[in-house]
Amino acid sequence: MTTPLICPSILASDFSKLGEEVRAITEAGADWVHIDVMDGHFVPNITIGPDVVKALRPHSNLPFDCHLMISPVDSFLEAFRNAGADYISLHPEAGPHLHRSLKYIRQLGAKAGVVLNPATPVEILDWVMDDIDLVLVMSVNPGFGGQSFIDGQLKKIEVIRKKLDAVGHHAILQVDGGVNAANAHLCVEAGATAMVAGTAVFKGGPSAYAANIKQLKGL
Ligand code: DX5
Ligand code: ZN
Repeated sequence: MTTPLICPSILASDFSKLGEEVRAITEAGADWVHIDVMDGHFVPNITIGPDVVKALRPHSNLPFDCHLMISPVDSFLEAFRNAGADYISLHPEAGPHLHRSLKYIRQLGAKAGVVLNPATPVEILDWVMDDIDLVLVMSVNPGFGGQSFIDGQLKKIEVIRKKLDAVGHHAILQVDGGVNAANAHLCVEAGATAMVAGTAVFKGGPSAYAANIKQLKGL
């Protein structure tokens, strides 16, 4: 089994010292920095915008993985790319033209991701397979950190794994929400290649980050 990429969600970090937190997870062995962007409209919470992403950019050389939970989304894609986003993922429900949005993300020079909410059918992927670099399976309903993993989403990961393998697609298959040391191996067994974790990485403060990340990797 391959070692999954660990993408700490800075939503669970200490917002009063975001730069330090990003440096700390970078030094602790994180693979990507997952940035949850919420607008109080598409999801019932508000977090950070492109200016904060830009301010964090000098603090790490890791890929910035921006998970956009905002609607409308298209008008903000360029701003996130300019701020330093390497991966930009969006929800199909966040805009009227998923295919156009994905094309635009790639045109901007970023990698494009589609995020599936717990109730979003996997078939939404079928006609955008050539336009995606990442599929993100939400294992909680988006909006908040610290929620419980929805076990039924493991089946969805398996189905998408098969779908990708059937056509030799190398998209990253990421899972987000309630991921912890107890369920991380189940995600990997189901076919996930990247895991977002907020609470499970940031618990215990900076001195615990390296061990937390190692544990999630199953090392
Ligand atoms: C939820 C976010 C997740 C979340 C993960 O809307 O997309 O990234 O912050 O946090 P934990 O790992 O605490 O569930
Ligand atoms: Zn997220």
